[in-house]
Amino acid sequence: MQALIQSIGIYVPSKRVSNDELAKTIDTTDEWIVSHTGIRYRHFAAEDEAASDLGVNASKIALERAGLKPEDIDMVLVTSSSGDYPDFPSTACIIQDKIGAKNAGAVDMLAGCTGFIYALETAKNYILAGSAKNILVIGTEILTRVTNWKDRNTCVLFGDAAGAVVVQAGEDGNRGIKTSVLRSDGSGADYLLRKAGGSRNPFKPGETDPTDLLLYMDGRRVYNFAVKVIIDTINTLLKNNNMTIDDIKYIVPHQANRRIIEAAAKRSKIPVEKFFMVIDEYANTSTASIPLALHTLVEKGLLKKGDPIITVGFGAGLTYGGNLIYW
Ligand code: UT7
Repeated sequence: MQALIQSIGIYVPSKRVSNDELAKTIDTTDEWIVSHTGIRYRHFAAEDEAASDLGVNASKIALERAGLKPEDIDMVLVTSSSGDYPDFPSTACIIQDKIGAKNAGAVDMLAGCTGFIYALETAKNYILAGSAKNILVIGTEILTRVTNWKDRNTCVLFGDAAGAVVVQAGEDGNRGIKTSVLRSDGSGADYLLRKAGGSRNPFKPGETDPTDLLLYMDGRRVYNFAVKVIIDTINTLLKNNNMTIDDIKYIVPHQANRRIIEAAAKRSKIPVEKFFMVIDEYANTSTASIPLALHTLVEKGLLKKGDPIITVGFGAGLTYGGNLIYW
């Protein structure tokens, strides 16, 4: 039996914001953002949309493309760093209800921007263990709601979107999520976090600095970590599976910064064209960035059934990892 990715759906909010538009209210320029990140646009969710709404829209498309009814889903796995509510209830339960997946369990998985990679491996293992036949894996983010709009170092980097895939038990020896590398380095927890609002530093009205409820990032440290772990993850996946980079059609990286990917390509001597990027259009959408890139590959006809690809990502935690998938 294999864990097959049977379909993919995305939802991108219609409000598209250029760097020049941001520069009207933030001390930045299109030139700085493009040259330091590769980002040209990001999309903002509408005021009445929460992360579950974006996830529901992406899920409905994935379900329809897989030819499944909501009742066929055994498990809803959601990964998000900007869920509907802080900590509970899970965004997965809200999506489960809104799509009518009445036979499904539902759980959120938190692994920063690496969340989609963790969730795909988890879905694979549920399926190979016989615990589920159809799993909806959803990455959904409205990071623009937890961004500090007074911090130009971070606020220009993020965008909103959702992506969903149906992972299904099936017999197709040439396809499926084969294996993954899931790793972490919690010594870097302070590099990317929301400092207040949890049990470490609870919200206290009148005392908590509101800025501490928002995203904080030491960009340089995350950058250096990212370049290293992208290379390590790809090399580990190739070595564990007796493959070379020539056996891989595309590497689909977490889309945080074009320069991170270019630096990893240069240092590993992997042609940069192997890395498929959509960051110019969507910016960093955290757990949604890998499904957005996968969806674009499919839409452009660049990915055929059975093609070997590697996903690779990094994020808050710090976490990192990748999947080897025969699409
Ligand atoms: O999904 C995982 C999350 N992690 C990430 O996405 C981020 C990883 N890190 C990065 O992508 C990069 O470190 C950044 C894009 C965040 C920053 O790029 P950098 O090349 O490391 O820039 P820097 O922090 O070294 O800053 C260079 C200069 C500074 O000015 P001074 O001090 O040299 O005068 C900043 O103040 O650029 C300035 N700067 C800006 N200027 C215009 C920082 N942000 C901006 C901005 N517009 N938006």
